[in-house]
Amino acid sequence: MTETLTIRRPDDWHLHLRDGAMLEAVLPYTARQFARAIVMPNLSPPVTTVEAAKAYRDRIMAALPEDADFTPLMTAYLTDDIDPDEIARGHGEGVFTAAKLYPANATTNSAHGVTDVANLTAVFERMQDIGMVLCIHGEVTSGDVDIFDREAVFIERTLEPLVRDFPALKIVLEHITTTEAAQFVADSPDTVAATITPQHIRINRNALFAGGLRPHAYCLPVAKREHHRVAVRKAAVSGLPKFFLGTDSAPHDKSAKESDCGCAGIFNAPFALESYLGVFEEEGALDRFEAFASEHGPRFYGLPLNKGSVTLERAATDVPETLPAGEESLVPFHAGETLRWHLL
Ligand code: DOR
Ligand code: ZN
Repeated sequence: MTETLTIRRPDDWHLHLRDGAMLEAVLPYTARQFARAIVMPNLSPPVTTVEAAKAYRDRIMAALPEDADFTPLMTAYLTDDIDPDEIARGHGEGVFTAAKLYPANATTNSAHGVTDVANLTAVFERMQDIGMVLCIHGEVTSGDVDIFDREAVFIERTLEPLVRDFPALKIVLEHITTTEAAQFVADSPDTVAATITPQHIRINRNALFAGGLRPHAYCLPVAKREHHRVAVRKAAVSGLPKFFLGTDSAPHDKSAKESDCGCAGIFNAPFALESYLGVFEEEGALDRFEAFASEHGPRFYGLPLNKGSVTLERAATDVPETLPAGEESLVPFHAGETLRWHLL
């Protein structure tokens, strides 16, 4: 039995750090585990310019604990009228690692998102030319499409044509939740990859209704049926380089989650590695964890692998019911549970 597991320092390829007091509260959890993270731009207002991204990056660096060794990788929030020159300039200056496509109104702070990808043809052409990664929240938003079908319908209506029309564009389908997504990515050319969250390989949609309404199990894309969870798990542990770690840790104050219109988002940053690793262990795939957490992402993004390592031991981690965040508090993923691994 392996009692400890040491892997190259991992990265988080999809993260919400927020701003202000929330940023200060959540950043140390990520910086303790990960060397780099792709930081989502859905602030209010969204990060749409090089200047805004630089300023946000400065605020992140200022909020880092003194001994931290962490690099935020910034993203641009795509809008219908975003200027391709601004995106390309940000990438050229080393500010924008990627650009993020939120379909308008798909999720938190996506009101300024894209109403029709046809509006972005020039942007995608430019990104394709310069080798810049496009991160996609892959859900349609039309009211006539059932919320549990929104990812599969997005793949059919939007993603398939996009991959066909921009064959050299590097695309990350974020936080995949369905058999259809896992299959689509596996079958696509090497330009297409996916991130996988801890929650989508841990819970199915029953978690939302277990003994009552469970706002802390609510995120977008929403968890799906059990067979989808199983398919996404298989993808995560498959060893295929197209699948890599992206927590989508999305903190909201406890009071904003436990409300008559609770915010979407699961705050999984504090014990993300422990959560993922438990799944790899259950799947008999401990030997594939390092590639998923530390190798596939940087290779897809064309970035160097990290130096250094982290070690987890097979020991209990008790997850607190709440964690402080400024004047408020946060409920972490797995609150009140005991996980089988412990990050040293
Ligand atoms: O659950 C989610 N929360 N999904 C998203 O896409 C956004 C995120 C957030 O920013 O809260
Ligand atoms: Zn997200």
